Amino acid sequence: MGPVPDLDERATACARRLHDAESVLLASHIDADGLTSAAIASTALERAALPHEVVFKKQLDEEEIASIAAREYDTVLFTDFGSGQLDDITDHEHAGDFQPVIADHHQPADATTEFHLNPLLEGIDGASELSGAGASYVLARALAETGEDSPDNRDLAALAIVGAVGDMQTVDGELVGANEAIVADGAEAGVVEEATDLTLYGTQTRPLPKLLEYGNDVRIPGISNDEQGAVAFLQELDVDLQTDGGWRRWVDLSADEKQTVTSALLQRALERGVPSAKAQRLVGTTYRLLDESKGSELRDASEFSTLLNATARYERADVGLAVCLGDRDEALDQARKLLENHRRNLSEGLDKVSKQGVEQTEHLQYFDAGGEIRETIVGIVAGMALGTDGVDPDRPIIAFAQKNDEEMKVSARGTGRLVGRGLDLSTVMKTASRAVGGDGGGHDIAAGATVPAGQEEAFLEEADAVIAEQLN
Ligand code: C5P
Ligand code: C5P
Ligand code: C5P
Ligand code: ZN
Repeated sequence: MGPVPDLDERATACARRLHDAESVLLASHIDADGLTSAAIASTALERAALPHEVVFKKQLDEEEIASIAAREYDTVLFTDFGSGQLDDITDHEHAGDFQPVIADHHQPADATTEFHLNPLLEGIDGASELSGAGASYVLARALAETGEDSPDNRDLAALAIVGAVGDMQTVDGELVGANEAIVADGAEAGVVEEATDLTLYGTQTRPLPKLLEYGNDVRIPGISNDEQGAVAFLQELDVDLQTDGGWRRWVDLSADEKQTVTSALLQRALERGVPSAKAQRLVGTTYRLLDESKGSELRDASEFSTLLNATARYERADVGLAVCLGDRDEALDQARKLLENHRRNLSEGLDKVSKQGVEQTEHLQYFDAGGEIRETIVGIVAGMALGTDGVDPDRPIIAFAQKNDEEMKVSARGTGRLVGRGLDLSTVMKTASRAVGGDGGGHDIAAGATVPAGQEEAFLEEADAVIAEQLN
């Protein structure tokens, strides 16, 4: 039995079909989840001695599907996308261009196909319980079980966790549901460890003052965004802060030292008026990859996923894939350079939103980044902006970015609370974009679309109306 029993039947069918393929084209999405999906699937195919090629697409539209159909492969394995584009894909299936096999977690379109592995088809949530990498992992386990002489592929759980964390699937800081079953698999295989630790981003790599200064989920007055404040806070503690010449990182501290810093940080947050429930988010569940060295981005699932986004969203999916497949030399160096650039872009993007501010319609808030934020990261910026000063944490946010002369990219982000009240951004993006001649989809909590340039206002009106209906 696989890690997600409800998906066993679908996974086994997909795996058997892949074993029968002559040649497989593996197509995946260009983000952390898509990269880890591809790495998991590619490794499993290779272990099963199934020849294949890997390609990445920013988006799977009609044109891209046609270009895939034009290739000579008899079988196409789609990971981390495909379900939302089933209408187009099955046109090619029926024309005999290729046999699709899909491992995805996005909202499926109306058409149906035989080899389709998607948590939503079995009542499992695709935004919080299983990612594309998770679906690919379930498939990888089934490939092993239905094949000969293959290892069981449980080691690939580590990448599946990076994918889930990269897609922000945690609920109250923790992976749940099918994701949790994969964590258990990874722990059993000795590749993953779940630990309670400081949740600030950068425990592996950031010098201590930077770790505190840049923490932006829980803002602590006098420390967050305050270099001198962060240094002064640390200096008051009975902890050695420097090693020969450099700042120590969180990973370099002993358990006692970490306890000292954590307690002081919590106390300071409370003193400065951070609500207790929020301050408690400073400590939570973290996921460590035990085969990676301490102090490497790859050791921490959250840092690893950011590193991957820094490659694939900048047309260097090849670099990210190589890192996932084990290249710790050239590809990792290159990824680290891309990461610096990505971090700078995110921080400049957030600055831009905060200077420009967001505008309101009755039921949503939005900003138009024009050509100033890359369309591949505007959704990440929108998500990070929710809850910063001047941005209502309780309202869906929509962001526009120029895609090319004719088209605008739209990204939408919501919150768990809004989804609880009925928000489904996947439907909002699909309905509103189609009404103005575009297309879109995604998840209830995060979705995207492409619309013709000049249709932004009309799109917003449609989106506002759909949201109004959902929240009533
Ligand atoms: O295409 P894909 O499913 O991989 O992308 C999911 C997107 O949804 C990510 O950009 C992720 O940050 C976003 N998301 C979010 N909040 C959640 C779940 C997903 O912003 N709770
Ligand atoms: O678990 P412990 O408190 O000793 O962790 C020290 C630091 O070292 C943690 O913040 C974690 O980032 C890192 N660590 C790790 N792998 C471990 C244990 C700790 O990366 N197995
Ligand atoms: O691009 P962005 O990060 O905003 O995407 C959010 C979610 O919406 C992702 O899961 C993405 O795959 C999905 N999406 C989609 N169709 C689009 C654009 C985005 O399904 N045209
Ligand atoms: Zn995904």
